[in-house]
Amino acid sequence: MVFDLAGKSVFIAGHNGMVGGAVLRLLKQRGDVRLITASRRQLDLRDEHAVGAFFTNHRPDACVLAAARVGGIIANSANKVGFLYDNLRLQNAVIGAARASDTERLLFLGSSCIYPKLADQPIREDSLLTGPLEPTNDAYAIAKIAGLKLCEFLNREEGRAYISAQPCNLYGPGDNYHPTTSHVIPGLIRRFHEAKHSRASETFIWGTGTPLREFLYVDDLAKALVFLLENYKDPGLINVGSGEEISIGDLAGLVAEAVGYEGVLKLDPSKPDGTPRKLMDSSKIRSYGWRSRTSLQEGLRHAYADYLSVIEA
Ligand SMILES: NC(=O)c1ccc[n+]([C@@H]2O[C@H](COP(=O)([O-])OP(=O)(O)OC[C@H]3O[C@@H](n4cnc5c(N)ncnc54)[C@H](OP(=O)(O)O)[C@@H]3O)[C@@H](O)[C@H]2O)c1
Repeated sequence: MVFDLAGKSVFIAGHNGMVGGAVLRLLKQRGDVRLITASRRQLDLRDEHAVGAFFTNHRPDACVLAAARVGGIIANSANKVGFLYDNLRLQNAVIGAARASDTERLLFLGSSCIYPKLADQPIREDSLLTGPLEPTNDAYAIAKIAGLKLCEFLNREEGRAYISAQPCNLYGPGDNYHPTTSHVIPGLIRRFHEAKHSRASETFIWGTGTPLREFLYVDDLAKALVFLLENYKDPGLINVGSGEEISIGDLAGLVAEAVGYEGVLKLDPSKPDGTPRKLMDSSKIRSYGWRSRTSLQEGLRHAYADYLSVIEA
């Protein structure tokens, strides 16, 4: 271990979000870390001066930067200025304040959308900047690339330990179940739950069902992030994935099982499929000794329980 978090103070930026919430749960359970949080109302992370004063005041030993302006394809394509500018401001403010107050370790969250649209699969870290990005989320991806490069350059020029982790698709407690802006798993959970309650005999799934995707349970990601904070030494970025692929058709079957929906699942090939395969190469983090532990079946049961708690609240 290169940095033991025991007894240290950790600022979780974005602790009300899905990823930040999972890191908060994990570190609370662990019990030996002093946690620092601030809601958006208390601290707008785009405000460079306020963020600088917050770091000067709290002097965290480590920071998990899990806050970002996040959105689906429609929001991302319609407001590129907002996604680029807000994310640049937010990450520059936090990374800059961490640097100025000599925060020892920082973990910056990127995303698989930083890689070229046509990157070889499984996607390795060294495919970064080898080809054009997916145009629908290029503004968001460019902000993330700027953030991870800033961390890398600070590591190389100033000997800092600011890590950039690139997770695959995530799901689990704290997910967004909105009918139009949700990702595939929370979207299917909601639709199958509603179909179960309306006793619908069949439900349609967009596309051919054949695209392959990789999913990671968010509590497994939180364990990976804490593991990286304590153990990772390289200056460059690192992928974090489960390493397991599943077709959208098979995934829909597992979600229906977790929800208890027994109607027929029908494919609608007239709807777009998206990219045929998206798998991260996570051999680097596995070489450090980390691997995900939660099976998709188990994670989906927890995710459905979370959905029920949200709609019953
Ligand atoms: N979800 C995924 O599948 C996925 C996959 C790969 C990578 N990631 C990355 O993981 C990170 C976290 O994602 P997430 O899914 O946890 O997103 P999320 O649930 O939307 O959480 C983002 C958090 O950031 C906070 N935030 C945004 N702008 C802020 C501001 N100006 N000031 C203060 N707080 C602000 C939000 O606060 P409010 O609660 O007040 O809105 C929210 O709590 C992102 O960088 C994302 O790219 C996510």
